[in-house]
Amino acid sequence: MTVANKVVLVTGGTSGIGAGVTRRLAELGCKVVCASNQEAEGQALAAELKAQGYTVDFVAVDVACEESVKAMVQRVLDLHGRLDAVHSNAGVWRQGKVTDFTQDDFDFVMGINVKGNFWVAKHVVPVMEAQEGMGTIVITTSVAAQIGFPQHALYCASKAALEAMIRCMCNDHAGKVRVVGVSPGTIDTPMLAATCAGWDKPKEEIYAEVARKIPVRRLGQPEDIGNAVAFLISDGASYIDGTILVLDGGTLPLPPW
Ligand SMILES: NC(=O)c1ccc[n+]([C@@H]2O[C@H](COP(=O)([O-])OP(=O)(O)OC[C@H]3O[C@@H](n4cnc5c(N)ncnc54)[C@H](O)[C@@H]3O)[C@@H](O)[C@H]2O)c1
Repeated sequence: MTVANKVVLVTGGTSGIGAGVTRRLAELGCKVVCASNQEAEGQALAAELKAQGYTVDFVAVDVACEESVKAMVQRVLDLHGRLDAVHSNAGVWRQGKVTDFTQDDFDFVMGINVKGNFWVAKHVVPVMEAQEGMGTIVITTSVAAQIGFPQHALYCASKAALEAMIRCMCNDHAGKVRVVGVSPGTIDTPMLAATCAGWDKPKEEIYAEVARKIPVRRLGQPEDIGNAVAFLISDGASYIDGTILVLDGGTLPLPPW
């Protein structure tokens, strides 16, 4: 199950889930490159973890831009000479019904959530195919791919697209790259906090109500996803491919009333 010394790239690795994954993988001895469009947060996180003796670097990227993604992957190779695993996790959310969205909204969400994951995969796969051994790409989807959340049509559609992409990539790159999804439920992050804006109650009250409904009786924490990603990129998960691991504390099986 060991992941020590694996070189791992985490996109969106400087906030919420991605920051939790960066921390967990660093603690487990991975050489982590956290990448995002949050320069200040990324530099601070890498400096904090380096000061604790871990190997963590920050690379600035806009995943919606292919040239930027290409440069990010090259930077990882310049730093470490190989790339064992990627957690392709950067994502955004916008609220609204189909009738509310403009072309800018559509391009923003699809550009980061769908196109961003395409560019990451496009530039990571050839590196893994050229290396010894099997690489792993873990993509963050969401239970939103399965649930028709009110006012989430654009976000839900973007996440469902990723599940189709995972199934195809597992076949197309068989033998050299495993491609797996992690599908979080309700995870305590800045993105989740943003979804509470405009409600008539404080965030803490909303979180407590939601936690009471989740079978494990708590919100997920970024570290919960970090533990799952650590397992999925380990050799212990070498028979797991082309599938989605749901991390929702038991929410999906709940009855719809
Ligand atoms: N929080 C939840 O409950 C939840 C549930 C299901 C899925 N998710 C998914 O988990 C992932 C992480 O979300 P989070 O909750 O940690 O949110 P977050 O807002 O805390 O983090 C998002 C990260 O993505 C990065 N990012 C956004 N646009 C980018 C771009 N163009 N280029 C590079 N980086 C970019 C941000 O800088 C940030 O680091 C997302 O894909 C999200 O859809 C979250």
